[in-house]
Formats: sequence, C-alpha cells, structure tokens
Amino acid sequence: MSKRKYEATAKAETNRTRRMTWWRRSRFGMFVHWGLYSQLGRHEWVMNRERIPRQQYARLAKTWKPKPRAARDWAKLARDAGMKYMVMTTKHHEGFCLWDTRQTDYNAVKRGPGRDLVAEYVDACREFGLKVGFYYSLLDWHHPDGHTCATNAAARKRFVAFTHGCVEELMSHYGKIDILWYDVPEPLATPKAWGSAAMNEMVRRLQPHILINNRSRLDEDFGTPEEHIRAEQAGRAWEACMTFNGSWGYMPSAPDEDWHSARDVVKMLRQVTGGAGNLLLNIGPKPDGSVPDEACPRLRTVGKWLDKYDQCVYGDVDRADELVGMPFGSFTRKGRTAFFWADRWVGREMTIGGVRGKVKAVELIGSRRKVRFRQKGERLMVSNLPATCPDKLVGIAPIAITFAGKPRQIWAASYPAGR
Ligand code: GLC
Repeated sequence: MSKRKYEATAKAETNRTRRMTWWRRSRFGMFVHWGLYSQLGRHEWVMNRERIPRQQYARLAKTWKPKPRAARDWAKLARDAGMKYMVMTTKHHEGFCLWDTRQTDYNAVKRGPGRDLVAEYVDACREFGLKVGFYYSLLDWHHPDGHTCATNAAARKRFVAFTHGCVEELMSHYGKIDILWYDVPEPLATPKAWGSAAMNEMVRRLQPHILINNRSRLDEDFGTPEEHIRAEQAGRAWEACMTFNGSWGYMPSAPDEDWHSARDVVKMLRQVTGGAGNLLLNIGPKPDGSVPDEACPRLRTVGKWLDKYDQCVYGDVDRADELVGMPFGSFTRKGRTAFFWADRWVGREMTIGGVRGKVKAVELIGSRRKVRFRQKGERLMVSNLPATCPDKLVGIAPIAITFAGKPRQIWAASYPAGR
C-alpha cells in the first residue's frame, strides 16, 4: 500500500470510529417493516411467494389508509423499551415508496395514504429523541426494470438511475439521517453494476455523519447478521436484526408462542452486548399503523429491566470473548468488570469455576444487599445471595464482578484435581 493510500485509509478509519461512537453505545434499536403487504398480513414477501401479478398487487396501494401519525406510537414504545434508534422501511421489495418521491407515482402521497409516511416517521423519531434510520430495498418487484435489469443493459441503466434517484431524495429531504440500511442487492451481482461506490459517496456527501450497512454489496460501516446472533470479527461493527415472531411484516396468524418473550429479548441483549454488537428488533405494525398487541407489553417489560440494569448494556462495552459463562448464566464485560447475567438462579451460594485473576469486588446490581465472595484456586464462591432470583421482571439478575486486571474465565475439559 502506498503511503498516501495508507494515510487515507487510516483517516477513514478514525472518521468511522468517530461517526460510530453513538451507535456503539446505543446497543438497541427498533426495526419497522410497514408497507402494502401489511394489509394482507401474510409476510412481507407475499407478493413474490404467492406470485401475485403486479397489477393486482398494486390495488393495495389504493386501499391502504393508515391512521394519522402512527409512527408516534412506535417511537414512544421504542423509547419506553430502552431503544435508542429506529430503522423504517421506506421501500420494501414490493416497490411501494412511503415518501413523496419524484421517481415514481407508486408512492404514499399519490396513492391511498395521501401523505408522506417517511416525513411522519422522521418527526416521530425526533419527538422521542431517537436517531433516524432509513431501510431501502434495492430489490424491486414493481419497477418495470427491476427484473430485466439483470440481463438488459438499457434496463439496468434506467433502474440504477431510479435507485440512485430514490436514495438521493431520501438523503436530501428529511434533515439529518443517522443510518442508511440497504437490503437485498438483487438481481445485480456486483457493486459495480449497482454503482454502489458512487451511490454511497453521494450519500456521505449529503449526510457526512451517516452510517451505512453492508447490503449494497460493499462492506461499509457494519455487518448485519439476520435472525441469528453471531459476532463478526473483532474490530468490525455489527448489528443483529431479529424478527419478533418469525415475520418482518405484520402476520396476525403467528401464535402467541411464536413471539419472543421479554426474557428472550433480554437474552438477545446479553448476546449482542457480549460481542460488542447491537440488536435491531423488529415490529411489523398493522395496516393502520398500530403496534401488534403482543409486542407492547413485552417491550415495556424489557424497558423496565433496562432501566434497572442499564450499566451492563449501554455504553462502551468490551467483547466478553474470554469469559465462557456457566450453565446458569453468561457474561458481558466493561473493562475490568465482568457482568454475570444469572438467568437460572441457583440459590444463596453460587460458584463460578475457571476464574483467572484476582477479584476485587462483587455486587448484586440494583440491590443494597452485601454479597460475600472468596476465591480458591480457579473457584469464585459468592455467598449471602438471596434465595430466589432478585429480578422479578424476566428472571435475569446481573452480578458485577470487578477484577484487578482483565477478567478471564477459561473452559477446560480436564483440570488439575486440586485438594
Ligand atoms: C431480508 C428479507 C426481508 C427483510 C430483511 C430484514 O433479507 O428479504 O424481507 O426485510 O431481510 O433484514
């Protein structure tokens, strides 16, 4: 690498670290999938999976009449749930644009809703102090060139111009936008075919602070594991996106058992925090925009839990790679403090094995109770704990264990027997 190129790369990395600081500290965001498909309630891929003819599907654009300012309900719920940012589908694969676009009249202002739903969403985020993210699907089942662009050069030219035009509008008309969340770069196979580098340069020119995900066939700022939680390589930012009930779009046939419980969501937060990543948890609002009944109480419980245990989730966390956990709980970490999230309360005494290094303090978070601890070899024995789990919200109680150095706990199949 030439010196110039090296310096430019180093500068871009410093810049990225600075841009991403708020995001890395925020941990938890709300994903919102809302579009024409919400009226059918059979998953956001319904048009494709049922092979609904384009003209027939487009009738849904006439009948969609969401209630005014529905986005306020989402934003208020997101704030109450302890979420710090939102990402809403401005256009999903169905091709219907939720904003006032000049690129197509297949949009929310010209059709049924008669309003700019993106503008309402942006206002709601700002009202409730949340950062603003736009999801934008590159894949488009409605646009006449959305399929043929893969094989026809003229169609590709038109479709790429349409795509860049949409993105430029979104980046120009709504003030400061914090996240651009691309999705499904099909059917064009390379970043070159999409003109992704030029498109993202344009985005950064218009929104210098923005964060861009990895779905324009370029890595950009962060990775997006979907429906599973796995940390990317150390140093790379990542955000797991998860459905609440197995569908991104509104799906009323999902039985209650398919909805993640508040306890599940707290466990997800444990996992992302342990890998220094983020969680983007989805809601699929009803066609009128109201939040499905199942989501509200669950998210509010998560919010109450986060109020109490905020220190183990938000802020500058470190990866807990060198803390293996126990069958009754797992770790997150901030510097020299390891947080043990006890999710199966074992009683008044708890022993963690494989602990390396000196422990200086043990504290039951959110409680004034003085717990005792002692170390013997690799065993950390904590006593004077309550008999039952002190957390009544979801049954997960974090215990802060502060070490003299870097917290470490090792797993070993065999070990010296000791005395
Ligand atoms: C996908 C799906 C989609 C959903 C999304 C969220 O790849 O096609 O419907 O919007 O991921 O991550």
